[in-house]
Amino acid sequence: MEAVKQQIQAREEPVVPTSGSTRAAGQRGEIVIAGLGKVYESKKSRFAALSDIDLSIGSNEFVTVVGPSGCGKSTLLRIVAGLDEQTDGSVTLDGNEVIGPGAERGMVFQGYTLFPWLTVRENIEYGPKLQGISTLERRAISNYFLKVIKLESFAAAYPKQLSGGMKQRVAIARALANRPKVLLMDEPFGALDAQTKLDMQEMLLEVWEKEKTTVLFITHDIEEAIFLSQRIVVMGANPGRILKTFDVKLPAQRTPEVREMPAFLALRRELGQLLKH
Ligand SMILES: Nc1ncnc2c1ncn2[C@@H]1O[C@H](COP(=O)(O)OP(=O)(O)OP(=O)(O)O)[C@@H](O)[C@H]1O
Ligand SMILES: [Mg+2]
Repeated sequence: MEAVKQQIQAREEPVVPTSGSTRAAGQRGEIVIAGLGKVYESKKSRFAALSDIDLSIGSNEFVTVVGPSGCGKSTLLRIVAGLDEQTDGSVTLDGNEVIGPGAERGMVFQGYTLFPWLTVRENIEYGPKLQGISTLERRAISNYFLKVIKLESFAAAYPKQLSGGMKQRVAIARALANRPKVLLMDEPFGALDAQTKLDMQEMLLEVWEKEKTTVLFITHDIEEAIFLSQRIVVMGANPGRILKTFDVKLPAQRTPEVREMPAFLALRRELGQLLKH
């Protein structure tokens, strides 16, 4: 009990100094997707992109969705983001139905563009500025995230002066600077080189642990899915549906050695076989 209490206290302690935080105490970032369906319909065709998706994601859980191209992963994420509308079922966040985008859900999509006319620091401070957070406090927030993404020396640089990996790190920082309860990520590291990708995965886990964010992450990369998540959802196509869910039984602390563990390798094999069929 004491341990649970300590955990709850730790969760409510803000890591970033913000009085205007969008994350109120007691709100957890729990997502419940129930009976979700999406049909794309035109005069000539009818396509079931998603059918009967049931998925509950707990507070501070890290869930990854994998599946073949076209199985509806991005459609699912866009509906949770409130950028697209389902034709069946519902999505709730902490009991409230999702009916549009909101600051409590941060998004990072592949090729996510930064504001080119703003510096790295201004990009990170953009969300907090919209929320009316004071200059001083915004500075504290951007300092914190510049440090986390290891781009302190690029604070005054413009996006065009950054590499792809750097831009992606700023995009993540910008999403996190709003202190969202939920982080929705659609193949955010897909275009990065192998080493940057590994660095980014570790950085994401670090931030996830510190910020206690709930993460819904999409990837094509099975190893990335296993390394990052607590649970992996495998989707199939025609119609887009959930085939199977796996609990990732690996140590909570995901050090590079985790990738060599028998449980990691066994899950990699199992997922590989499932996705081949
Ligand atoms: N606006 C749209 N109109 C009609 N069909 C669409 C639309 N958007 C997506 N689709 C279809 O819905 C299906 C799911 O698309 P979605 O982008 O969600 O797949 P995905 O799993 O993210 O694929 P990938 O791994 O290639 O990114 C695809 O068959 C796609 O053609
Ligand atoms: Mg997609």
